[in-house]
Amino acid sequence: MRHFLTLADFSKEEILEILNLAKTLKNEVKSGIYSKPLAHKTLGMIFEKSSTRTRVSFETGIYQLGGNGIFLSSNDTQLGRGEPIKDTARVLSSMVDLVMMRTHQHSRLEEFAKYSKVPVINGLSDDFHPMQLLADFMTMQECGKDKNPIVAYIGDGNNMAHSWLMLTSKLGFTLRIASPKGYEVSKEILKKAESFARISGAKILLSDNPREAVAGADVVTTDTWASMGQEEQKDKRKRDFKDYCVDSELMGLAKSDSIFLHCLPAYRGQEVSEEVLESNQSKIFQEAENRLHIQKGVMVWLHKSR
Ligand code: CP
Ligand code: NVA
Repeated sequence: MRHFLTLADFSKEEILEILNLAKTLKNEVKSGIYSKPLAHKTLGMIFEKSSTRTRVSFETGIYQLGGNGIFLSSNDTQLGRGEPIKDTARVLSSMVDLVMMRTHQHSRLEEFAKYSKVPVINGLSDDFHPMQLLADFMTMQECGKDKNPIVAYIGDGNNMAHSWLMLTSKLGFTLRIASPKGYEVSKEILKKAESFARISGAKILLSDNPREAVAGADVVTTDTWASMGQEEQKDKRKRDFKDYCVDSELMGLAKSDSIFLHCLPAYRGQEVSEEVLESNQSKIFQEAENRLHIQKGVMVWLHKSR
């Protein structure tokens, strides 16, 4: 049985296999075909943080596959009142067939997975957001940006930056990350990515210079300056990140046919300008829709691994 906690646990071949499966499922839905490989299966969805896309895409996805999803907010379950993860994991996994969890410390997911009898999927932790990265790469494939692309990530060295590190180092393309001093990616995660990059041939470049990172890029991406759980740092971060807005001028340094991606929600006038977000280069809504298709692929793939 396999869990999906980070892209680090998957080979390049497995990642591409899941992407292919998602493409087939997407094509089927677009032609009105709904195969039901997960009929009578239940997905438990634990949310310890807010969500729009992750909740709706997982719930719709399991329904389209013939199964059923249960939304479990930490406010309304005993998890929120301190029931240990290891007890919750054993109880839930005796009843449901798959679990998706969005939480704070990544170690909570690891603990859940350790005690779970069914596959566990990371729907975002403080360290990683792998489902988003699969949707991002699916969008890059659809836009013809999947062959040795140069990706520029501008901003916080957070869960999205870490997931880009994992994807890039597994698939072997170029990633340039520009973050302000003090907001760099985790050294431990970078080390792991560099060890994968030695095998895949990926190139990882880190700097604090957005212009250098974006120059000649095929894909430009960014994320909020203050992630969930960092609300009290908002004002300081606004000051520290003020030179890291992806605006038309910065985007103009990328290739003329480059695309812009953002996991959303986006904060206009902060990490990205309204103009870039609403431009033809912006693929953010295609990217958001792909969360549905890729997660269906992940659920089918993981269920088969049992
Ligand atoms: N991108 C993303 O995960 O969005 P939500 O927080 O709305 O789920
Ligand atoms: N980095 C953001 C991503 C939201 C989808 C956060 O963790 O809040």
